[in-house]
Amino acid sequence: MSSISIFHCVYLMFLLSSISKVGYGKMVFNVMNYGAVADGNTDNSKVFECVFNKACQSEGINLVLIPRGTYMLWPIMLKGPCKGQVEFQIKGTLKAPTDKASTVNVYYWIAFQYIDQLILTGGGKLDGQGLAAWNVYTCNVDPNCKALPISLRLDFVTNSRINHLSSINSKSAHMNVFACEHVTFDYIRIIAPKDSPNTDGIHIGSSSNIDILNSIISTGDDCVSLSSGSKDINIQDVKCGPDHGISVGSLGGVRNEEDVSGLTVTHSTFIGTENGLRVKTWARPYSNNVFNLTFENIIMENVDNPIIIDQQYCPLRNCKKGDSQVQIRDVKFRNITGTSSSKIAIAFDCSKSKPCENIELNNINLTYNGAGGPVTSLCSNAKGIAIGQQQPPSCIYRSLQHLY
Ligand SMILES: *[C@@H]1O[C@H](CO)[C@@H](O)[C@H](O)[C@H]1NC(C)=O
Ligand SMILES: *[C@@H]1O[C@H](CO)[C@@H](O)[C@H](O)[C@H]1NC(C)=O
Ligand SMILES: *[C@@H]1O[C@H](CO)[C@@H](O)[C@H](O)[C@H]1NC(C)=O
Repeated sequence: MSSISIFHCVYLMFLLSSISKVGYGKMVFNVMNYGAVADGNTDNSKVFECVFNKACQSEGINLVLIPRGTYMLWPIMLKGPCKGQVEFQIKGTLKAPTDKASTVNVYYWIAFQYIDQLILTGGGKLDGQGLAAWNVYTCNVDPNCKALPISLRLDFVTNSRINHLSSINSKSAHMNVFACEHVTFDYIRIIAPKDSPNTDGIHIGSSSNIDILNSIISTGDDCVSLSSGSKDINIQDVKCGPDHGISVGSLGGVRNEEDVSGLTVTHSTFIGTENGLRVKTWARPYSNNVFNLTFENIIMENVDNPIIIDQQYCPLRNCKKGDSQVQIRDVKFRNITGTSSSKIAIAFDCSKSKPCENIELNNINLTYNGAGGPVTSLCSNAKGIAIGQQQPPSCIYRSLQHLY
């Protein structure tokens, strides 16, 4: 079937290649006209790839249209650079295969690479069909396990917009942003069960000027996570939960990582998450810096660890004792309110040899929603200031030397 489809695509591209664009409108490439089959079974990867390549090689604005319907899709890599601007409009549901062969040595399901000015939109859905894969997942106990495919990977994508899309049941992370600049995610919906392993919502690394706005993320692992080289990341009007919250790290676990700086999270809500706002680093000898993080106007509802800096991160519980060499500084928590489901609403477990500097707690009102309160905070090697209301009472070590 797919050989007929790909023949179709190439053949029709040839026939249609003489048709010129009308006026200044978009050139529309409807995948149905090139042999796509929306029966939920037939693999469409070759057709989509072929249509994308054609759109990518055309000048002007080129729209790849995937109409309503369910499309089986084996892993695809859509690669630029493109001559014009490509808008990829998914109105239907794309379904990932469950065959084991589709996950072996493939780190993506749908990947876009080296594209400037990509628009990915349409109101459609990416269904990673993760359930079967999660059942055999061993990465939580086996450090040599093979990672499963990420549903949507953006590598080296710039000046682009991803909006009005949903992702459900990814096998690994839902979305991964690597080496990208100026990319905005807007009106994204991410859904996977609370206990699905390693299903980060949006994972960012080696990228700058990434915005995540007006989105709802409910998944098994981190809502949004930032790794090495994340710079100027803006998260606004995002609802997380249940999941593990917004996380910087883990960092300091390996050599040669880049700094993480310039994160702003504003006007966002955490509901029933394991963590709210978290920075986590390994207690290993690799140095790195995390600075200029601002968390402002945040509501917590029933969150286990609303505010947490953990510099002894050790998920497999067999780490050597040591001090983290990651320097954390200039971190502001402003107007953080709501409920904690554990008594310790704020925990700063900072490195002894590189204490956290310039932590600002400003108008915090977190209450414990269980029995046997009151709510407390825990500080270890944390310096900074507390301003305004402090519930729980701040335990930060007041340091004047860095007042700003
Ligand atoms: C702090 O980060 C924000 C982005 O979150 C950026 O706009 C600002 O310039 C940074 N400030 C400093 C002093 O680097
Ligand atoms: C505090 O944050 C909440 C939630 O975002 C917001 O509604 C409220 O206006 C903020 N208060 C101030 C004084 O900014
Ligand atoms: C702090 O939060 C509690 C519970 O949400 C609320 O009853 C109280 O009024 C708040 N305090 C202030 C000063 O806003």
